[in-house]
Amino acid sequence: MPELVLHVTGARPNFPKAAPVIRALSGLGVPQELVHTGQHYDEQMSEVFFRQLGLPEPDVDLGVGSATHAKQTAAIMVGLEELVGSRKPGMVVVYGDVNSTVAAALVASKQQVPLAHVEAGLRSFDMTMPEEINRLVTDRLSDLLFATSPDAIAHLGNEGVAPGRIHLVGNPMIDTLLANLDRFDVAAARAEHALTDRFVVATLHRPSNVDDPADAAALVKAMHAVADQVQVLLPLHPRGRGRLEAAGLFDHPQMRVIDPLGYVEFLGLVRGADAVVTDSGGVQEETTILGVPCFTLRANTERPITITHGTNQLVTRERLPQAIEECLAAGRAETWPVPPLWDGKAGERIAAIIATYLGQ
Ligand code: UD1
Ligand code: UDP
Repeated sequence: MPELVLHVTGARPNFPKAAPVIRALSGLGVPQELVHTGQHYDEQMSEVFFRQLGLPEPDVDLGVGSATHAKQTAAIMVGLEELVGSRKPGMVVVYGDVNSTVAAALVASKQQVPLAHVEAGLRSFDMTMPEEINRLVTDRLSDLLFATSPDAIAHLGNEGVAPGRIHLVGNPMIDTLLANLDRFDVAAARAEHALTDRFVVATLHRPSNVDDPADAAALVKAMHAVADQVQVLLPLHPRGRGRLEAAGLFDHPQMRVIDPLGYVEFLGLVRGADAVVTDSGGVQEETTILGVPCFTLRANTERPITITHGTNQLVTRERLPQAIEECLAAGRAETWPVPPLWDGKAGERIAAIIATYLGQ
């Protein structure tokens, strides 16, 4: 009986990363089960991705929901411990840097189940980010480390990870983007949101921007200064929604705050945007491939390749309005460099390495 691969997902950014890996493993006939931890649970944060990306229904939904870091991570670990004990997978595969990722890594490694980490080696070197802690722990415990960029390989090497465990495979998030490109309909997005002229799409959810009322107020000031120049459409993540609303975010005639969008609708908007303002990880990568100028409201990024080989730049809240003004004046670049191996085949590369590892 071939060994089972158990995928653990739970939060929005996990789903576009897992979809191409699951599809490619299916093509190789590898038995698989998909766990949803329930970290994200709103229809627009979870189910819509399963529908739109052709992901299989989760075999198990742990339904943990929202809680503090310790409570959420612990609840996922408790649920997974029993599951891994009973299913006895040949490998657990985890994605990205969310709490579901690190929880599954801890459970798999303590039960001596080989662990594969998709999107290994990214480093912001900012230990105030919960994701950085999750990345460090997950990579330290992983047997197979799948990197999206050469800088990630260098970080893992510096941390003493054996080179034989590390594989530069490209970016499965970009597999999903390229596979769905024809569905990103700019005209439909414009019509749906009554966008008459140039527009900026924004996403904001990092604790560094939305958790503290003073940060939220500074962010609202910056976003209003952008909205003074151009229509802004902001599908807002539930985290910090209340704080941003209290800080007056919604109170500008050119600022449209809406609920999170499905993947296809979101990327239809991004594709047609004059610029994107974000603190998301994945959106920095997607804009890089779509050639849309991206302004990342963070002091650092674990994805520097989107700056050196893409359309991304880091900006402060203070500098953002001026940066948008310059961007609107300059227009989009005709050509831009693209990171190596971001070619739509990362899922296939990952699946082939996993199958070889399992001897299938
Ligand atoms: C998590 C990830 C972050 C990722 C983001 C992607 C961690 C530590 N953080 O952050 O890296 O960028 O997901 O979206 O794992 N909530 C809802 N409905 C949902 C889910 C969450 O209302 O379906 C609200 C709850 O109030 C919850 C808050 O959002 O407390 C935060 O959710 P959580 O999963 O803890 O972290 P995110 O900020 O979403
Ligand atoms: N996304 C989406 N709808 C939205 C906002 C984002 O489909 O309203 C997608 C986005 O295209 C990307 C993923 O969600 O594929 C990234 O998730 P998020 O920004 O929540 O997480 P991060 O990448 O910052 O961890």
